[in-house]
Amino acid sequence: MSAAPIRLGVLGLGRAFTLMLPTFLNDRRVQLVAAFDPRASACAQFEQTFGGIARGSPEALCADPQVEWIYIATPHQMHAEHVALAARHGKGVLVEKPMAITLDDCTRMIEACERANVPLIIGHSHSFNAPVLLARRLIDAGDFGQVRLVHAMQYTDFLYRPRRPEELDTARGGGVVFSQAAHQIDIVRLLAGGLTTHVRASTGAWDPSRPTEGAFSALLNFANGAFASVTYNGYGFYDTDVLMDGMGELGLPKDPGAHHHTRARLAAVADEAQEAAMKAERNFGGSLFVPPAPRVPDAAQHFGPVLVSCERGDLRLTPRGVEVIDAQGRRFVDADIAPVPRAEVIDELWSVAREGAQPLHGGAWSRATLEVCLAILASGRQAVDIMPTLQVAVRPPLTSDA
Ligand SMILES: NC(=O)c1ccc[n+]([C@@H]2O[C@H](COP(=O)([O-])OP(=O)(O)OC[C@H]3O[C@@H](n4cnc5c(N)ncnc54)[C@H](O)[C@@H]3O)[C@@H](O)[C@H]2O)c1
Repeated sequence: MSAAPIRLGVLGLGRAFTLMLPTFLNDRRVQLVAAFDPRASACAQFEQTFGGIARGSPEALCADPQVEWIYIATPHQMHAEHVALAARHGKGVLVEKPMAITLDDCTRMIEACERANVPLIIGHSHSFNAPVLLARRLIDAGDFGQVRLVHAMQYTDFLYRPRRPEELDTARGGGVVFSQAAHQIDIVRLLAGGLTTHVRASTGAWDPSRPTEGAFSALLNFANGAFASVTYNGYGFYDTDVLMDGMGELGLPKDPGAHHHTRARLAAVADEAQEAAMKAERNFGGSLFVPPAPRVPDAAQHFGPVLVSCERGDLRLTPRGVEVIDAQGRRFVDADIAPVPRAEVIDELWSVAREGAQPLHGGAWSRATLEVCLAILASGRQAVDIMPTLQVAVRPPLTSDA
């Protein structure tokens, strides 16, 4: 198979793209050849930064014969339409999380890619992070026995970062369950085996000026007998990054006062149009865009504290690897942290595009994660247990070298 860089076209040059920018600038396995975004300033910046071509519409981008794969980073509610378009043009698809906002849309995306015989990967999500994949390999190696309990929690300023109006409207995919549980549930399912049998949850929408879910707690049961407790609070006071060696989600040192600044910045915004503009202006090509900070090479990205209790030991995920606590005592297993952030996304993309592997984060896997997210919302509303029906198991061992 070819060892040439994968020629990517980008649909949507907003926040998600801005977060992938350090990866695209530094990972030689991909070459960005074309893009489309309705923001002209982002298109101009794309041509200047990558020397690629800004196309005039999603159709023109997907029809470009130079493009092999499309990275879709448009708002969630557009993913289904854009995946179908890319598949119709025979392009491989890397689409951001959450896969979509309904299970029917997920199924349509899977079927469109199957019909066109093109691969589908959902990412980036934080289950790609090196310490998560390392913990999975340690579990697969068998020394710790069965996973019994996973505990995950994350306290952020999610709800007070500048948002588009639909990001504050649950019916249109807003709130922390669609945007953030998509990361956390993917991590927890990956570590606990993937087959969720029951979901019981409470959700919180505590700020009438931001009328969507800002918090949830969920209890999940799995077919292998494991269970998980998962808590997220995006109301912007406490910051769990202080428990992660002071490293932010992106694997960079974080100001412990960051949440206070986020709230203060938002307080100065007059209305939702100004807020949406502020979000766009901070993105690639915008007037407030700040180029990516240099990376601290020994820290991975993370999604808050995660503890995995197995029959014969506990595994604590950190930004640098996994702390193992078992009958022998404590020891630390370093994650293999690539110099390029989110290189794990390109690892998976490369293995699928160039080596013919099946994706770990494929359509059925990611639909199952959305199914659990939707179950959290439904359980929170109805105060009942929800039993998912579309779950799939994690693909067996990632590698055998752990
Ligand atoms: N993995 C991550 O870390 C991460 C982080 C942020 C967002 N996301 C995901 O990325 C997606 C986009 O969210 P965002 O925060 O980047 O939003 P955003 O508003 O910052 O960016 C969306 C971009 O899409 C563009 N766009 C709108 N309509 C378009 C169209 N028809 N064709 C092409 N481009 C179009 C917008 O102009 C904007 O630049 C969401 O699904 C979100 O969950 C992922």
